[in-house]
Amino acid sequence: MAGTKIDGLVVSASVREQVKKDAKDLKSNGIEPCLATVLVGDNPASATYVKNKQKACAEVGIRTKDHKLPSTITQAELNSLVDTLNKDPEVHGILVQLPLPPQCNEFETTSRILPAKDVDGLTPQNVGLLTMKKAALKACTPSGIMELFRYYSIPLEGKNIVIINRSNLVGKPLIHLLLEKNATVTIAHSKTKNLADVCKNADIVITGVGDRTKFTLTPEMIKDGAIVIDVATSRLDGKLVGDCDFEKIIQKASFASPVPGGVGPMTIAMLLKNTITAAGHGRN
Ligand code: GUN
Repeated sequence: MAGTKIDGLVVSASVREQVKKDAKDLKSNGIEPCLATVLVGDNPASATYVKNKQKACAEVGIRTKDHKLPSTITQAELNSLVDTLNKDPEVHGILVQLPLPPQCNEFETTSRILPAKDVDGLTPQNVGLLTMKKAALKACTPSGIMELFRYYSIPLEGKNIVIINRSNLVGKPLIHLLLEKNATVTIAHSKTKNLADVCKNADIVITGVGDRTKFTLTPEMIKDGAIVIDVATSRLDGKLVGDCDFEKIIQKASFASPVPGGVGPMTIAMLLKNTITAAGHGRN
């Protein structure tokens, strides 16, 4: 029997509903929550992501300030924009869309954002707090995945969870959120030996490779009744796809998230939630 689809559209709608109420509440207290977005260059995928984030903000009553910079920008110019946004009292959250062009340093740029405005949870301060279970602003995709587990009442305690992704935005922050729930976490990556065996042993596989020409998580690689969260986005024959063929993996998994319509909408919903948190902290 096929498993249950983890529907990110349904779960993100419930998060956005709450965010809308919170935004209204903040406004009635004289605070208009505001996210500044920074897009450098003309990467079409990044432009679409930023546009979707701005649209989602507008729908829940979060104002946006849009900054588009040419791909030739220098690090000094980018730093100067971040400094301006840090100082702008109207701006509660700052999102610098990644990746940046090669002459810009992602660490230098994201580290410069005030931790209180760091709605991506990427500053050293917020990453450090996350490891100590004290972060108010956590990376959006990992928080969104945790929200999916919560919504579907999926227990995590004592579960063997494999994450195939070691990025600062996904795999690394997710380790801490899962550890807080007493899961046993394994990080796999391109140098992991016997990846199929590692996955086969897992109760939950969270996969985020994002290149179907190199990797597909197949039903043969998971155990019967495993839970699969697909974080990847890539293109295959012109279609947006994840690491799995959803229709196949759901025949063997007890739960699985599709692409599109799984983790992607959750990332945006958690960005909205973080912006409200950042705006609320500025209240005092
Ligand atoms: N690029 C891909 N995903 C993300 C994200 O969640 N935040 C930022 N800033 N850039 C990204």
